Amino acid sequence: MQPFRDIAVFSGNAHRALAESVCRHLEIPLGDCEVFAFSNEEIFVRFLDNVREKDVFLIQPGVSPVNNNLMELLIMIDAAKRASAGRITAVIPYYAYGRSDKKDQPRVPVTARLVANFLEVAGADRVLTLDLHAGQIQGFFNIPVDELTAFPMLADYFRGERLPSPVVVATDVGGAKRARDVAKRLGCELAIVDKRRIGNEEQAEAMTLIGEVEGHDCIIVDDEILTGGTVASAVRLMRERGATSVHVACVHPVLAPRAFDTLDIPELNQIVFTDSLPLIHGEFTNVPVGEISVAPLIGDAIHRIHSGGSVGALFR
Ligand code: R5P
Repeated sequence: MQPFRDIAVFSGNAHRALAESVCRHLEIPLGDCEVFAFSNEEIFVRFLDNVREKDVFLIQPGVSPVNNNLMELLIMIDAAKRASAGRITAVIPYYAYGRSDKKDQPRVPVTARLVANFLEVAGADRVLTLDLHAGQIQGFFNIPVDELTAFPMLADYFRGERLPSPVVVATDVGGAKRARDVAKRLGCELAIVDKRRIGNEEQAEAMTLIGEVEGHDCIIVDDEILTGGTVASAVRLMRERGATSVHVACVHPVLAPRAFDTLDIPELNQIVFTDSLPLIHGEFTNVPVGEISVAPLIGDAIHRIHSGGSVGALFR
């Protein structure tokens, strides 16, 4: 890898460990900056390294406290802009508010679009993100968005597991495409759960299964887990339909506190997440948990953005 001269990577307080891993991969130090809140909760940012004319990357996923971390990112962008950064890329490994991507009820917001507006108004020149809840969110921006995907890495992990009779399971029709891609990579069949959500309740109920799982090793694929309700319902359904084993592959471990109870169940053989977000609300005691780091992927993408290389080529 070529050494960089004009690149600068900084982290807010959301997930410093990931930013440090990205910098290790890039073989550059993580930039020095202060990001803290005063006693009145107002956030202060100051870059301690020169960023004038630099290619600045600000790494900050939308983890809890989501609104604080979003505000930190916006203020960091503003500070970088006012310090004459050459270009500012908001690196958002998990795009919070991604589920609010359409007006699907009367009198509701499209907050994913609002967040996109905030980022642009603050002064971001580009966005680098990972597995958006819906790819169309890219269209909420008028600046370039590079969306990476960790599903090929999750597929590679399960190829290494050598499950005797795998079948990939999508937790809803919306996730069928990415699950089909994983199934294709594993050379196995796809099943789809027809999930029904009840109003705005966070409880989801798995209803119907399209496909065959009896005697198979199910790999339930999802982009994010919040309460764990969706996946737990799917796990139960797989077991009822005679699955031999049930595994979960998920990119973003958003994981509200109750998810650590909901998913810590004997019907589940293992859960595999990426480190796009830190696990801050608990840990699993019974179910084995695997973690795949997206730091090399994000690092390679930053390298390519900086040097004018193709980001798409990372996935070919
Ligand atoms: C839904 O469309 C997503 O792909 C996830 O299935 C959902 O966000 C998970 O939420 P929860 O864990 O709260 O059921």
